[in-house]
Amino acid sequence: MAETLATQILAILFCLSAAAAAAGTKVYSFNSQNSTSVSSLNANDGICKSVVEPLGYACQEHTVTTKDGYILSLQRMPSGLSGQAADKPPVLLQHGLIVDGVTWLMSLPDESLAFILADNGYDVWISNGRGTRFSRGHTSLDPYDSAYWDWTWDELAAYDLPATFQYVHDQTGQNLHYVGHSQGTLIALAAFSQGKLLNMLRSAVLLCPIAYLNHLTSPFARALVDLFIAEDLYWLGQHEFSLNGQVVNKLLEVICSNPGIDCSDLLTAITGPNCCLNSSRTKVFLDNEPQSTATKNMIHLAHMIRTGTIAMYDYGNENDNMDHYGQPTPPMYNMTSIPNDLPLFLAYGGKDYLSDVKDVQVLLDNLKDHDGDKLVVQYTDEYAHADFVLGVNANQIVYDPVIAFFKIN
Ligand SMILES: *[C@@H]1O[C@H](CO)[C@@H](O)[C@H](O)[C@H]1NC(C)=O
Ligand SMILES: *[C@@H]1O[C@H](CO)[C@@H](O)[C@H](O)[C@H]1NC(C)=O
Ligand SMILES: *[C@@H]1O[C@H](CO)[C@@H](O)[C@H](O)[C@H]1NC(C)=O
Repeated sequence: MAETLATQILAILFCLSAAAAAAGTKVYSFNSQNSTSVSSLNANDGICKSVVEPLGYACQEHTVTTKDGYILSLQRMPSGLSGQAADKPPVLLQHGLIVDGVTWLMSLPDESLAFILADNGYDVWISNGRGTRFSRGHTSLDPYDSAYWDWTWDELAAYDLPATFQYVHDQTGQNLHYVGHSQGTLIALAAFSQGKLLNMLRSAVLLCPIAYLNHLTSPFARALVDLFIAEDLYWLGQHEFSLNGQVVNKLLEVICSNPGIDCSDLLTAITGPNCCLNSSRTKVFLDNEPQSTATKNMIHLAHMIRTGTIAMYDYGNENDNMDHYGQPTPPMYNMTSIPNDLPLFLAYGGKDYLSDVKDVQVLLDNLKDHDGDKLVVQYTDEYAHADFVLGVNANQIVYDPVIAFFKIN
């Protein structure tokens, strides 16, 4: 069965790539019309004007340029709804894969972490990773160049995160609290394990921590990995990975026709049976179009799923790895070398298809020598991957404990 599916997929890929090449057009489209509320995001307006300000909160747009030339947008919420200026430290919110900073603003204000933190007196900063709709600028490359997409989460850890940390630190003159979700935890763990960012950091909250991925149960993600979809796309010249793209969309149709995968609810097929999403708002989440990432990043994640290691990108042969790293295999990130006195809050859920309980336990095992009073671990049995950012009760289950943790760190 898998073989037939793979053959079908390759056929589709070849046809579409050839058609796109022949027409000389880009395969992916950015469609920001035709939608409502949160999803009526206009690339010219940005997140402050389209999402935050309409709800009565102050918001500032900022940009920061990474050392490798990517121009990232950041939003700052300097006060709560009352208008009283923040009197607590800056908090940087870093989203996960396939989404952007709007993740933290998508539920109602009393349910969304960004608004809640602002209302609690924190100076809130929301980052948007390279390649997402409001962070597509570059000093010399264009997103329609394949060179623009030559990166994986290694670069997010090495360039995006340090540039963003430095910027918030410089603007506020203070060290910051960090909150990452999913890939936002992976890049932070990678940087911390190399001793980076620690001089600007107060504490880190890791929601759905990702360091090891080989127990991942998402049938959808498994299909992508088992069928080498990202590798195929890459070799066919599709360096931007977008769930909105024609090629990927065709692939979704094929993957979803597989009887083992129920795509009637794609969010569940990818993230797990979330207990606590507001079904009358699910459309808002889904309308909020998925964001692009680099196909090379998807390959890197696929390597992690296959190998169960947390290492830099594997170029696939000793010579190329030698060229990039001066050694035949990619260097590992060593989770044990995260300093034992770094205040860490890890929250994970029993129904999460991506941040699997077994994989989180391997990470916790790496952290077993962490100072007891510097590590808070919170397990919520009924939570899946999206509940941590979109759950209607995440304010009580997750954010209240997070704020209590910030207060003592
Ligand atoms: C949005 O697009 C759908 C289908 O593409 C169309 O049926 C609908 O009328 C559009 N809505 C608006 C508000 O333009
Ligand atoms: C669910 O969403 C609807 C529509 O936005 C809203 O009116 C309702 O209050 C929400 N319910 C909860 C529990 O958040
Ligand atoms: C990882 O880091 C720890 C603590 O710094 C060290 O003891 C251990 O040898 C390292 N492991 C590897 C494989 O380098």
